[in-house]
Amino acid sequence: MPSVIPVSLPQNSYTVAIASNSLETLGAQLQPLNLGQKVLLVSNPEISRHYGDTAIASLEGAGFDVATCILPAGEEHKTPATLQTIYDAALDHRIERSSTFIALGGGVIGDMTGFAAATWLRGVNVVQVPTSLLAMVDAAIGGKTGVNHPRGKNLIGAFHQPRLVLIDPQVLQTLPDREFRAAIAEVIKYGVIWDADLFAQLEQASRLDQYSALSPDLIHLILTRSCQAKAHVVSQDEKEAGLRAILNYGHTIGHAVESLTGYKAVNHGEAVAIGMVAAGQLAVALDLWDQTSCDRQSALIQKAGLPTQIPATVNLDEIVVSLQSDKKVAAGRVKFVLPTQIGAAIVTDQVPAATIQQVLHACQAN
Ligand code: GLY
Repeated sequence: MPSVIPVSLPQNSYTVAIASNSLETLGAQLQPLNLGQKVLLVSNPEISRHYGDTAIASLEGAGFDVATCILPAGEEHKTPATLQTIYDAALDHRIERSSTFIALGGGVIGDMTGFAAATWLRGVNVVQVPTSLLAMVDAAIGGKTGVNHPRGKNLIGAFHQPRLVLIDPQVLQTLPDREFRAAIAEVIKYGVIWDADLFAQLEQASRLDQYSALSPDLIHLILTRSCQAKAHVVSQDEKEAGLRAILNYGHTIGHAVESLTGYKAVNHGEAVAIGMVAAGQLAVALDLWDQTSCDRQSALIQKAGLPTQIPATVNLDEIVVSLQSDKKVAAGRVKFVLPTQIGAAIVTDQVPAATIQQVLHACQAN
């Protein structure tokens, strides 16, 4: 059963289309959008090997003039230098203002292609075709694009909304298990901050730790409800003036853990899982949340095979220092997203330093 989810914005509204085998219909789905004939398909070697031919055949079958740009895989290549490769390909293919960049890949490809589209000729169309669960439920929707600066992630960026997000769950078959699990952390996040029914459905699932252990119906539900949550939040607050900040649930302490473990020992989703446990405990300590709900969250995170404790190797004082340099600091106070019930959260900077210290110690593995 396909889902079509609107992202309604004052300008540049678009849809997120979710359907099995929809990669084969990419070209046909672009036709009604009145895009120019030239498209630049940006991907990485692995994704291109699996899905490039299907995407290109579909685009050419619909009459598009397709060029490809293959970038090296990995977060370490999400740099201004790699953007140059996209710009060179755009110039070679004589991309015009009406032309379209298509991102076929995970979050790194999506963010870089989106930023290149935002800046080339002062803005060309971008279509997001995410191939990782994390990109499907988060990065591909909402128009945040960018590259890393050597001293911080995503410091160079722009908002540039896609014309379409096309999600084909079939491509998740080739996603490594660890990446699948990491993305489930963001799905649990939507359950905690926005959608109590999604949370309950995840609790009912027998397993959440491996793509092949989930039924196609559950995968479809996870995709649809997560994309709906993200679309609702982005529709209400496109540029993160307020509400959109709740999407950072688990990310405040999570980002610190991720960076202090070198982005590899603990990956993004694993760090968000640890960050959600810590934020949940902060909320309980501040009497904003009840212990039972907090325990239900931890149980779900464990069922997904995700960590719940800060590794013993991480120096807690360094977490506190790292929190101060986070993008979410305003006027010297760290902002936390804290749940108030399952399905609702608030943003607050009223968290005493002593409470942060106490929770960090309680959350660290021995
Ligand atoms: N990933 C958080 C956001 O898009 O706002």
